[in-house]
Amino acid sequence: MQCRPSSDPGAITSGPRPTKPRTNWFGPAALPPDGEAGARPGANWCGVGRMFDRIVRTYSLLNHILSFGRDFSWRRTLADALDKDRELKVLDMATGAGDLLVSLLRRNPNIAQAVGLDISENMLAACQRKIAGYKFTDRVTLVYADAACTGLPDESFDVVTMGFGIRNTPDVFKTLTEIHRVLKPRGTAFILEFSLPPNRILRRIYLVYLRYFVPLVGCLISRDRTAYRYLNKTIESFYRIEDFCDLMRKAGFSGVRAEPLTFGVVSLYKGAKL
Ligand SMILES: C[S@@+](CC[C@H](N)C(=O)[O-])C[C@H]1O[C@@H](n2cnc3c(N)ncnc32)[C@H](O)[C@@H]1O
Repeated sequence: MQCRPSSDPGAITSGPRPTKPRTNWFGPAALPPDGEAGARPGANWCGVGRMFDRIVRTYSLLNHILSFGRDFSWRRTLADALDKDRELKVLDMATGAGDLLVSLLRRNPNIAQAVGLDISENMLAACQRKIAGYKFTDRVTLVYADAACTGLPDESFDVVTMGFGIRNTPDVFKTLTEIHRVLKPRGTAFILEFSLPPNRILRRIYLVYLRYFVPLVGCLISRDRTAYRYLNKTIESFYRIEDFCDLMRKAGFSGVRAEPLTFGVVSLYKGAKL
């Protein structure tokens, strides 16, 4: 079965309906679409999007429970790393239910324009509601597209962020090169992602937590066994911190560094485009 972005996003947005089919712009104002936004995804893209569609109702709550509330501070750390001294145009990839996007906007009034991008329509709908609740609608556009192939114009953002999304993308390197492409020269990418604690004892304890506690609680609350098994598998199989930094350099980023958060269960990666 083929998986395509919906051609009727107007059903879930208070903004104007998109005029072009398959461009999939949500929100008050469409960005100038140089390329074709929402380029057709591959099969893997499709399955992941559907999985996130299913767990949307309990997604944010489970994040807070499973991280013991640390997820708020991880997002705040990223949000506080942005330049406060100039007007910014920001792209938040894998924006999900908008938790990182809201944190960015609340802590950085200098964000003049923000785009939230995701492959799950239900997540985008939840994000739309959250953005409206915080009265950020006039600064935000939501886009239904694959992070590895956004169709957004070259060199159009000062900052690209991605919170807990990159490990879900089928081709991580392609996603990094896409982030690099859409960044303006001297723009910065900030990527938050789960990692394994470097300390061996902590890592063992954390793996037990990931393999047994997370799927159990995730399944009980979301009623979706696969999604929270998928979570621990993707965390365990994701790049080691140094390897991910190398991959960022290979994708063209300079000054790459990783900041471990909460004993290294999460890392904040930063890289600049020269
Ligand atoms: C764990 S959630 C993170 C949401 C949000 N950034 C946060 O901090 O809570 C991951 C999101 O990535 C999205 N995603 C997964 N693969 C993607 C892809 N290839 N392109 C765009 N979004 C993707 C999912 O639909 C989901 O909403």
